[in-house]
Amino acid sequence: MTFEMTQAAEPDRPPKIIIVDDSLTNLKFVKTAMSPIAEVYAVTSAKKMFDLMEKVKPTLILLDITMPEINGLDAIKILKSSPFYSDIPVIFLTSVNSKGAELEGLCLGAVDYITKPFEPLLLLKRVETHLTLQAQKRAMERQSLELQNFNVNLVKMVAEEAEKVSKMQFSVLETVVDLVESRDDITGGHISRTMKWLGFLLDGLEESGIYAELTRDWNKKMILHSSRLHDVGKISISDAILKKPSKLTGEEFEDMKRHTTIGASIIDRIRDTLPSDNHEFMNQARILAVTHHEKWDGSGYPHGLVGSNIPLQGRVMAIADVYDALISKRPYKNPLPHEMAESIIIEGAGSHFDPYIVEVFKLVSWKFAQNRAC
Ligand SMILES: [Fe+2]
Ligand SMILES: [Fe+2]
Repeated sequence: MTFEMTQAAEPDRPPKIIIVDDSLTNLKFVKTAMSPIAEVYAVTSAKKMFDLMEKVKPTLILLDITMPEINGLDAIKILKSSPFYSDIPVIFLTSVNSKGAELEGLCLGAVDYITKPFEPLLLLKRVETHLTLQAQKRAMERQSLELQNFNVNLVKMVAEEAEKVSKMQFSVLETVVDLVESRDDITGGHISRTMKWLGFLLDGLEESGIYAELTRDWNKKMILHSSRLHDVGKISISDAILKKPSKLTGEEFEDMKRHTTIGASIIDRIRDTLPSDNHEFMNQARILAVTHHEKWDGSGYPHGLVGSNIPLQGRVMAIADVYDALISKRPYKNPLPHEMAESIIIEGAGSHFDPYIVEVFKLVSWKFAQNRAC
């Protein structure tokens, strides 16, 4: 390694070397030896070195050990404990010629230990080597910093892209939801209202601690938004059934039941077009679509699941969905007041509904009453 390489690493900044020695003769001798390769500062004590370092940050320090006031070993302890100076390489240049002192000096953080008298050319070469190493270290630190900045920018770009995708998904979702609502204008507003009822129930679940184990990892906001697709399968149900102004016949009702499984396959198809990190939203939507008409006693549809075999999301959604149907006007029925809807839900505990979720409903029922006109 040569000084040219050091200079290539730091082209505009010649290395600065501080020499600390209480002997003026030594100072002069070392300064002369170092002058060809660096801007050299010579001081006669460690205190003067610290004073100087308030103005000049050296690339390397050549430090004597035996000095009055602060000796070289104490000086290096101060340097290595400072966040500003700890990275400056220190070479001991001393007449203390003992293996113990050398080991102590290196243990305290010195990069080299050279004893006097020394051969000037040898000293020069050893200093050059440490300057080169220091320049390479600096270059690596700069590269690492650049890499970190690059990573930060990359993460930002990925986040921006993800947000774009998310916005696009949201607008697709809005369109699908609008389509469902427009197909089913008899129950207009059902999607947004059930989302609100579901929100009250999810809040109640969290506050009560009921099913805390199962809900600990839930993303409430994601479940709420995904609930807007719970009736998406109604897109495929005929107008004659969907908009029938009277109660459905048995056959028609069987057809209507298909909106759950059709909804699941529509969601599957949408999910397959999305990047895998967006699947969780659609997974939640699928669970709600296919299970919101299941009943606790197994008499629901499409699969007749019983009790806790019904995913918890579906058990919660069932109450939100039925409550909304009860308080809404249909061509064949008037809307029920909140109190009656509340009684019907409570009576359904253990048959239609999960009794524990009904307990949650009772806790937050006042919110339903307050918001039903909204
Ligand atoms: Fe439904
Ligand atoms: Fe519904």
